Amino acid sequence: MTDLAIEASGLRKSYKDKVVLDGIDLKVRAGTVFSLLGPNGAGKTTTVNVLTTLLTADGGTVRVAGHDVASEAKAVRAAIGVTGQFAAVDELLTGRENLQLMVDLKRFPTAEGKRIVAELLDRFDLTESAGKPAATYSGGMRRKLDLAMTLVGSPRIIFLDEPTTGLDPRSRRTMWQIIRGLVADGVTIFLTTQYLEEADQLADQIAVLDQGRLVAEGTPDELKRQIPGTHVRLRFATAAQLDVAAEILPGATRDDEALTLRVPSDGGTASLRALLDLLDEHAVAAESFSVHTPDLDDVFLALTGHTTEVVAK
Ligand SMILES: Nc1ncnc2c1ncn2[C@@H]1O[C@H](COP(=O)(O)OP(=O)(O)O)[C@@H](O)[C@H]1O
Ligand SMILES: [Mg+2]
Repeated sequence: MTDLAIEASGLRKSYKDKVVLDGIDLKVRAGTVFSLLGPNGAGKTTTVNVLTTLLTADGGTVRVAGHDVASEAKAVRAAIGVTGQFAAVDELLTGRENLQLMVDLKRFPTAEGKRIVAELLDRFDLTESAGKPAATYSGGMRRKLDLAMTLVGSPRIIFLDEPTTGLDPRSRRTMWQIIRGLVADGVTIFLTTQYLEEADQLADQIAVLDQGRLVAEGTPDELKRQIPGTHVRLRFATAAQLDVAAEILPGATRDDEALTLRVPSDGGTASLRALLDLLDEHAVAAESFSVHTPDLDDVFLALTGHTTEVVAK
């Protein structure tokens, strides 16, 4: 199958008696975004390290860009770019010097190297800060610089390990745009994330990793069909009020113990207003009202019956 950028089968990895990867199979088509979704400690970084030749698996096979990671590590490394979970940026160097270092490592001729550095600084909106030490950069700028460094040499397969964890919403959106740009250029992206929304926004295919096993796989839509959608949660003061509300909202799910009602909703202002009006008309007042968008916890609860809490390390 030449159209697979990454193919792993039966991957296993343990640290002493702790099993971290317990038989993982992955197929990533070239030119697509594959997202490995999982909470802290699920084994995402371990998977990335194995796929990128940084770590040797205890069992299983991996082919990346058609090369075996065990016997052709050099060829694999030549085909990929990796942005680790913890920035590879040297804080004492300026943005430009960090990029120049990558260009030198990859042995580009001087003139071409200069052109690449200037181009990447421009593309990531870092030209203005290029002369300042990376230590002075914001988290978002540092991640951008890190990704720019990964792009030196134009790898066709890129691994991004939690590229937006800890970023503010605006920097996260910038990062998403950059990733979309790479995909538009035909690059294959292997992305790990703890955010369902991020996987939903970017991925063609999502695999959910839980304690070293894949517990679900599919397109974002296939996955979301298995979990509760956006809904409004209403909590009432009395069982009588809950009864009335449940009657006027037949599509809702009730929880008699918590005195709550879960009403499917798109979360938009129009439908929220309509819902509140309806309650008003019937003279029922909710004690609390919240809009709930599904997150990783909902995915895990729906798929595994437990939340994302990490088992003690
Ligand atoms: N070098 C190591 N030695 C021992 N345990 C490790 C090592 N690296 C990772 N682990 C453990 O393996 C599990 C998965 O880690 P990791 O792959 O970093 O998860 P994630 O990236 O999803 O947060 C964790 O329980 C972690 O403590
Ligand atoms: Mg990690």
